[in-house]
Amino acid sequence: MDASLIMDALSERADIVEDCLDVLLPEAPGLEARLFAAMRYATLGGGKRLRGFLVMEVAALFGVAETCAARVAASVEMLHAYSLVHDDLPSMDNDDLRRGKPSTHKAFDEATAILAGDALQARAFEVLADPDTHSDPQARAELLLSLAHAAGARGMAGGQMIDMEAEGRALTLPEIARLHALKTGRLIQFSAEAGAILGRSPSHLRAQVAAYGRDLGAAFQIADDVLDASSTAAELGKTAGKDKAAGKATFVTLLGIERAAMQARMLSEQAVTHLEHFGEEADRLRGLAHWVVSRKS
Ligand code: IPE
Ligand code: IPE
Ligand code: MG
Ligand code: MG
Ligand code: MG
Repeated sequence: MDASLIMDALSERADIVEDCLDVLLPEAPGLEARLFAAMRYATLGGGKRLRGFLVMEVAALFGVAETCAARVAASVEMLHAYSLVHDDLPSMDNDDLRRGKPSTHKAFDEATAILAGDALQARAFEVLADPDTHSDPQARAELLLSLAHAAGARGMAGGQMIDMEAEGRALTLPEIARLHALKTGRLIQFSAEAGAILGRSPSHLRAQVAAYGRDLGAAFQIADDVLDASSTAAELGKTAGKDKAAGKATFVTLLGIERAAMQARMLSEQAVTHLEHFGEEADRLRGLAHWVVSRKS
């Protein structure tokens, strides 16, 4: 599928997710107003909304109501926004630019950024647990359990720990692959799987979309590393060249840009093979896999 069609589909879904986030993250009066403002700042008005797109696109395969899927998409995007706020903190990647504007700790202050991240994470789970998200408590419990696994010590947070430990230390290719799977892959896998959970899909189809998400996530993070090494801040909306400056272990440091990009393409093709049970209704997911490794930001 043509890249421009994928980008149109992404932006169409992004508008729906944005509206949902706007409602789920209201401004608030009182002494804590600054916290609510920082949560909105970190989450609204930016980002490719890849994870939200995955939730909605897979949910559509299983005939899920768009309003329910949008709430789960918004929840994942809140969790993701929290991870970016904390990733940018001086104690982590120390990055001042995010989505083309000052990082949350720059626009507010470090304490507010930490709290905004904490509260966004809690809000993500709160939204999933709400009966408005799914009428079946079993489906809600599965969503909560899966997101907890994806975000926690054996998922994103664990991957971020390995990322920090690996600064200035050489990792092997399998070690970097595992780092990627945890810090980025688990949440992208959850995003795809969530659509199947919402649709109460048979377990073999849920496993297929999970495998698609896993390989897509791996391809996505290699592409992020390639872009860090080969693109500009103007194109990315975030600082370029920072992995090398921080001595981060990435596929690019080990393989060079060309072979890293080739590895990303291979993983993206592998992702598509997991969709063979689906017909043309999954064509946008197939197209997304190609877009993920050819994107410019
Ligand atoms: C950036 O994620 C962090 C990584 C896991 C590579 P995205 O590239 O999806 O960031 P946004 O949401 O589009 O800003
Ligand atoms: C971050 O990876 C992954 C997260 C869990 C937030 P990076 O540190 O490479 O993400 P960017 O390049 O800052 O977006
Ligand atoms: Mg990082
Ligand atoms: Mg970073
Ligand atoms: Mg990066």
